[in-house]
Amino acid sequence: MFDHKLTLADYFLTVHQVISRGVDISNAHIDGFIKDGFPNETIFDGYLNYLHALIVLFDSHHKTEDDIAFPFFREALPNTHFEWLLEDHDLITGFIEELHPILDALNKREQVNVNLVLCKDILFKMSDRWYGHIGLEEEEFINLIDDLISNEERVRLFSQFKNYNYKLLKPHNLTFPFMLYNLEPQDQRHIVNAYSEARFADLDAPAWRAEWESMIPFLLVA
Ligand SMILES: [Fe+2]
Ligand SMILES: [Fe+2]
Repeated sequence: MFDHKLTLADYFLTVHQVISRGVDISNAHIDGFIKDGFPNETIFDGYLNYLHALIVLFDSHHKTEDDIAFPFFREALPNTHFEWLLEDHDLITGFIEELHPILDALNKREQVNVNLVLCKDILFKMSDRWYGHIGLEEEEFINLIDDLISNEERVRLFSQFKNYNYKLLKPHNLTFPFMLYNLEPQDQRHIVNAYSEARFADLDAPAWRAEWESMIPFLLVA
């Protein structure tokens, strides 16, 4: 059941929290993998799945802002620097495009060390731009928008976000556990509310769990 008390700020800040942890964890492990290699193939697969889920979430989040949220509030927020925010999205999209062939090569175990070093460089640039971006976006956009809309408009926007993201957040078997388990238990309800409880209830079903459990070393799974 959708929680009508969930604010747009709760939702956006929670997605930012997931992406921030995703970026931090990806960065925190890569030096060790470059230096010592992966302890086993499952951890190698888990790390690649984790990076894959991160870039899909990044992309869907930026598109949700570019195509739905920013246009909806643009007129009501004349002092917000939307052009800077959009520039950041474009820059990060460029980093994601650079990462795709690198992740493909790593999936095939081609030139593992060379590709990990390239990946590290992109992750570093991504993280650098991300933290500057969310600082501005939260101050000039997210913290202001809930006061600008009615309850009905808020519910309608959530429904648009949800429908749009279901299409973009593929594969769901990686992105849903990624969203849920990059959050501490007390913060998970915002994400569960914004999507569908049923979707998350399935995560631990054996058939689905088998598809994402390689990411567990990088997630907050109890
Ligand atoms: Fe953004
Ligand atoms: Fe954002």
